[in-house]
Amino acid sequence: MKLEIIILAAGQGTRMRSSLPKVLHNLAGKPLLGHVIDTAKKLEPAAIHVVYGHGGELVKESISEPQINWVEQAQQLGTGHAVEQAMPAVDEASTVLVLYGDVPLIRAQTLQELLQQGESGLALLTLILDDPTGYGRIVRDGAGRVQAIVEHKDASEEQLRIQEGNTGILACPATHLRGWLKQLDNSNAQGEYYLTDIIALAVADGVEVQGSTVDDAHEVAGVNDRLQLAELERNYQKRCAEALMRDGATLMDPSRFDLRGSATVGQDVVIDVGVVLEGEVVLGDRVRIGANCVLRDVQIGDDVIIEPMSVIENAEIGQQCHVGPFARLRPGTRLSDKAKVGNFVEIKNSVIGHASKVNHLSYIGDTSMGNEVNIGAGTITCNYDGANKHRTTIGDRVFIGSDTQLVAPVTVSDGATVGAGSTITRDAPAGELTLSRSKQTTITGWNRPVKNGK
Ligand code: UD1
Ligand code: CA
Repeated sequence: MKLEIIILAAGQGTRMRSSLPKVLHNLAGKPLLGHVIDTAKKLEPAAIHVVYGHGGELVKESISEPQINWVEQAQQLGTGHAVEQAMPAVDEASTVLVLYGDVPLIRAQTLQELLQQGESGLALLTLILDDPTGYGRIVRDGAGRVQAIVEHKDASEEQLRIQEGNTGILACPATHLRGWLKQLDNSNAQGEYYLTDIIALAVADGVEVQGSTVDDAHEVAGVNDRLQLAELERNYQKRCAEALMRDGATLMDPSRFDLRGSATVGQDVVIDVGVVLEGEVVLGDRVRIGANCVLRDVQIGDDVIIEPMSVIENAEIGQQCHVGPFARLRPGTRLSDKAKVGNFVEIKNSVIGHASKVNHLSYIGDTSMGNEVNIGAGTITCNYDGANKHRTTIGDRVFIGSDTQLVAPVTVSDGATVGAGSTITRDAPAGELTLSRSKQTTITGWNRPVKNGK
């Protein structure tokens, strides 16, 4: 089957009360429309057509997907009119699937089942609702065959009692669709060209209409305001949390966990409350992530402990490392196995060697560090001279005393010791003690200043 997907995304989304087009609002860190496009791609269609209108240029710029055919609907004259705008680019032999840019959680699996029915006839996705207010109603005959969809505003008293609602998602052969769209008119309560009117046209043509109901209402829920967006976000996060738990992770509270991207976990991973995972995160076996950590594009080896309140971005952490609490690992950080990074330590674009420790209050930037190094509290690599960045090189088994400044470019060779409180501007040789301190002096008989008037 040749499949083409039309995504409707021209609506303004007034109720969002936003200058941003509705479909660009984020769910789990990705625009609503991005979710729909990603699901569409899983079906491997020959083409994806996105019908855009309000904030069109911004939508096109924000969704950088080269294979999308962007179709403008300058005036929003109805869902039928919107689909029609894409039809000139649709192949005669294709099956067309219609999706919505503001219905982000539809699953590929559900669509695949729908498409099996939409290859010859017209397949509709419907939903049984306790309160169907606002939805188009699915009108069936005595034998249960779908006859038409009647919009809420056009429905009779009797039709308003129908609890089966139209999700809007449908599939059918392009040849039929083209013909039906040409026959639409806008003589209805809203003066719009309704896509839903094609159902009655299909029935009149003797084309089989299959209505199948979806079980999970969240899958077909649209976003009209920020409350609905928040509800779908929670539902999506629940799905993500459940998937991770099935993969062997313990989430201390699945309702206080956020994934904005993808995560792969080993066995017996434990994630405490308030953790946010962004981008691509890979956690090895037995990794423990403390409360309120943010991890973005991070790879972590087995048996690592990340203590609470740590922020880690674009970093690679080996096995058996210990990080935090309150650590910040910035892009380009690589911790070798058994490395330790303690509280109020910031590391950027640096390699920390095997079993090396930076335990307290330090900034390590643009540094290559060997194995079994001990960096004393308050050590700063001065990597920036105001114009350029320079590297610091630290060998194996180096000991840097507390409150030391290493003014880059500078090298501290294997086994060197640097005395506490030093400002190191020239290379420190291997195996020796290097320090820069003015001699300690005591001024005997010195008096502290006293407050005036006392
Ligand atoms: C539509 C359906 C209704 C269904 C409901 C489910 C029609 C006529 N009605 O009603 O049966 O129960 O969705 O939510 O189809 N859009 C465009 N261009 C337009 C008009 C709409 O791109 O000219 C897009 C909107 O951005 C939106 C979607 O199509 O994403 C649905 O449009 P909307 O006006 O919200 O339709 P409903 O009245 O909710
Ligand atoms: Ca709607």
